[in-house]
Amino acid sequence: MIPVKPHIAKRAHVHSLAHYEGLYRESIANPAGFWSTQAEALTWFHPPESVHQARIEEGEIAWFSGGKLNACYNCVDRHAETQPDKVAIVWAANEPGEYRKITYAELAREVGRMANVLKSHGVRRGDRVAIYLPMIPEVAFAMLACARIGAVHSVVFAGFSAEALRERILDADCAVVLTADEGLRGPKRIPLKETVDDAVEGLSVVRSVLVAKRTGAEVAMTPGRDYWLAEELAKERATCPVEWMDAEDPLFVLYTSGSTGKPKGVLHTTGGYMVYTAFTHRHVFDIHDDDVYFCAADAGWITGHSYIVYGPLANGTTTVMFESVPNYPDCGRYWQVVDDLEVSVFYTAPTAIRAVMRAGDEFVTRASRKSLRILGTVGEPINPEVWTWYHDVVGNGQAAVIDTWWQTETGGIMIAPLPGATPAKPGSATLPMFGIRPVLVDDEGTEIKGNGVSGNLCLAGSWPGQSRTILGDHQRFRSTYFTRFPGYYFTGDGCRRDEDGYYWITGRVDDVINVAGHRLGTAEIESALVAHEAAAEAAVVGFPHEIKGTGIYAFVIIRDDFSAEDPKALVGALRDQVRRVISPIATPDAIQIVSGLPKTRSGKIMRRILRQIAAGKTDDFGDISTLADPTIVEALIASSER
Ligand code: WTA
Repeated sequence: MIPVKPHIAKRAHVHSLAHYEGLYRESIANPAGFWSTQAEALTWFHPPESVHQARIEEGEIAWFSGGKLNACYNCVDRHAETQPDKVAIVWAANEPGEYRKITYAELAREVGRMANVLKSHGVRRGDRVAIYLPMIPEVAFAMLACARIGAVHSVVFAGFSAEALRERILDADCAVVLTADEGLRGPKRIPLKETVDDAVEGLSVVRSVLVAKRTGAEVAMTPGRDYWLAEELAKERATCPVEWMDAEDPLFVLYTSGSTGKPKGVLHTTGGYMVYTAFTHRHVFDIHDDDVYFCAADAGWITGHSYIVYGPLANGTTTVMFESVPNYPDCGRYWQVVDDLEVSVFYTAPTAIRAVMRAGDEFVTRASRKSLRILGTVGEPINPEVWTWYHDVVGNGQAAVIDTWWQTETGGIMIAPLPGATPAKPGSATLPMFGIRPVLVDDEGTEIKGNGVSGNLCLAGSWPGQSRTILGDHQRFRSTYFTRFPGYYFTGDGCRRDEDGYYWITGRVDDVINVAGHRLGTAEIESALVAHEAAAEAAVVGFPHEIKGTGIYAFVIIRDDFSAEDPKALVGALRDQVRRVISPIATPDAIQIVSGLPKTRSGKIMRRILRQIAAGKTDDFGDISTLADPTIVEALIASSER
């Protein structure tokens, strides 16, 4: 147990464990009272008429009904009035030492002009807009501009392939796409416009492609469809009225991977999401007016939405946007940004910490890091050794390490320590946020009470930041989250609650894997593989990977009628196939060509066996008597890539 640091507790919003426990009890006993108080932190055009309605089993959830507000107004206008000269966004460009500071007053002008550009391209309240941008300030301007006019943004991570982007544009029916000529990530240039051209080719839904200039690279522009963003912005004035939205009007859709089928468009609405992200950002990172807050995520993921843009800006915080990568020009980059900008709160994924940790302490210790107070992590379990290094070396033993568990669907942080209140245990996300009721259930759905137990992690009741539906497929929303364990929201994670009631996330219990902090469905990768002419069948599993946390291991059966002259080239072609269909982030680390898969007599693949082979743990397979052909296991071990 690592005790709370007195210098942090002294000025914290929640300053002791007893304080936390008291507030937590209150939040559970009277959720309506608790959340209506929290909602007052936002500016409402019309206050909510009720706090909360839910029929969990049907996946019907509403918060703050009758309330009217605008997310952009809350993030921009109200701060531009009261603190116009405060820095809203510091953009840390790809090259070290290059920064752009944008005040709240400037942000208001940038967002206003962007909103007018969208309108002049025909975007109206309720329309969807695709954002496929690198980490440049325009990504935040565009998100906020959509929110301002009531349009629904769909940010697509700029590492996704043309096919993946096309699928998302079509699913959400986006008439306007924002992109850039190229993106920069360390030494690499990413040809974004070219990818968009491939993605939208022949798509009649896409009316306009707005192109930001990042590198000045020569790119093809299709007249009547493609426009330079800067030229469009120059035509518009900065004044653009806000649309007052109902609390339950959609704010954005964000695609994420599930255990089956194609990625789903997780939909978040306006009132609940804004209340929850502002509230959790303030408490989990113990935000005060003088903080410089740096979340190193990408805007293409939920962490970027909730904790680079909406939460911090709603709180009037100075938020840092980082264009580069942690190892450019070397593994000391994060800490240089921390010193340059006097960052007090830093938030990243364990995979990034593992990568820079491997490079050695000197990259850390050459920076002073004296401004750091809080160090957050998110996205996957953090190994206790890595936690300890983060705490002792990066934080000099002076900063609080905050391991935050949550999901795209939860909208905001669900389980995490509070810096001034919760003693930490390295590797545990510790205790639930106010208003959050984690429940462990066995495979039959019975609640497992008490401490010192493990089970499937569910959440009882509802919270304001909860996703409301899957775009265009509410039935899938219900069946994915609310039917396996009736009465609860099912997270897909396994979890242990220890003797002290602390939560330890043990990883996914479904066919989702977290690879370098990116969430991927094994089924998606399998579909990409079998779309290759050589592949008859594929099974993908995760395996422990030193840097990425989980690596990707694919077992592929080749078609009888396909003659592979060069097996190495075939493996290379299968890898490329996944890169092309999904993204380089989904590229298998190992591909094993096999003649058969371990299937039960009913035809179900026993993934447990594949996981063991992928992990190189082949000494004991337990009971394999239900396999149709148990000899297959020996054959798989013999040709294993481990
Ligand atoms: C995993 C990211 C352990 C978990 C915000 C979850 C974590 C999935 C943690 C959601 C953590 C996230 N400890 N595991 N602190 N945070 N996860 O939707 O498996 O990209 O279900 O949201 O990441 O990933 P997503």
